[in-house]
Amino acid sequence: MLTEVLHSTPENIERAAAALRAGELVAIPTETVYGLAGNAFDEAAVACIFAVKERPTFDPLIVHTTALPPRADVVGVLAARQLVDAAALSSEARRMVQRLGSAFWPGPLTIVLPRHASVPDLVTSGLDTVAVRVPRHPVTAALLAAAGVPLAAPSANRFSRISPTTARHVLEDLGGRVRWILDGGACEVGLESTVVAVGAEGLTLLRPGGITSAALEEVIGSPPRPSSADAPGHGSPGMLEKHYAPAKLFLRLPLVLESLGEHEWEALRRAIPEGTRRVGLLIVFGGAERAAELASARLGVQVTARALSSAGSQIEAAQQLFHAMRELDASEAEVLLAELPDSSDGLLQAIGDRLRRATRAVEPG
Ligand code: TXA
Ligand code: MG
Repeated sequence: MLTEVLHSTPENIERAAAALRAGELVAIPTETVYGLAGNAFDEAAVACIFAVKERPTFDPLIVHTTALPPRADVVGVLAARQLVDAAALSSEARRMVQRLGSAFWPGPLTIVLPRHASVPDLVTSGLDTVAVRVPRHPVTAALLAAAGVPLAAPSANRFSRISPTTARHVLEDLGGRVRWILDGGACEVGLESTVVAVGAEGLTLLRPGGITSAALEEVIGSPPRPSSADAPGHGSPGMLEKHYAPAKLFLRLPLVLESLGEHEWEALRRAIPEGTRRVGLLIVFGGAERAAELASARLGVQVTARALSSAGSQIEAAQQLFHAMRELDASEAEVLLAELPDSSDGLLQAIGDRLRRATRAVEPG
């Protein structure tokens, strides 16, 4: 199959919308990461998404829908769009959805809600809930309006690989497997949406992402609860341990670089396979050159380092995360190392979550 990257002109958005209505798939930009989209009500299109991504069907998809009118009854509109079963929500839960939808949509928040009978089983993996999001990328918004159908869209990468934040990343991963990629530039957020579930116990955080826990707390009045089984892999059904991973061996530092003691360096030296000549190092904040010098001296190999934000900006670090992982994976380094953030403040919660899933711990000595 020939893959074509389309500039997001009004004509091409119209073309992509027509393709989606006809049951085809289109890779689309969003403010978080690129998505592989198909008509959520078309079972055959949804089946194609799973096939193209090589994604197991026990991992449900997010349904994307157009912005709600100002002051709309959020659950009422989602019910009228045949996405959500309003009757299955308590009035308290309904009020919470109203507050979340008004505060964060359009934007990088996904809300898991009781599912309407019209949503195909394949979208929800047979669960009685459906994940819904209103993206704010102007191209996605225009495309959703033109298509006139909600779009099921997982991140546009092959299963368990790094999520794409540019059209080029999608081409690298899905070239030859999808007919159209709509180019909307580099993603503004760079991390997937935050996924929350609204239930009898209040708000549960299933996946940290572009909306911080502090921002949720501000709107809800209390912080979201961590998902019941707190261990990674039990929040969302799709939150598998290994995820977002480069192809190379990717180890995580047991502590931030600056605080590593002789013990930890020794454990790292042992974990790096013999014969390794070049190591790629990802640090969150600070100077890459200094980090490379330090690591190189301690490990006795050549180290190239990449900082997510040398200026210490969480927003920049989030934007750069997947891009940096891809760069390191394509670099000459044979083994990769990453430092995890030493705080879970703000976007660092999601950055740490993704890095933890992408890396392997080093066995202590
Ligand atoms: O930012 C994003 O959310 C991007 C863009 C394209 O919108 N999409 C994305 O989709 O990250 P995906 O498929 O890679 O991740 C969807 C997450 C998975 O962890 C999945 O398990 C969870 O949402 N999810 C979907 N439906 C669910 C449900 N009914 N209950 C619990 N978790 C659900
Ligand atoms: Mg994904």
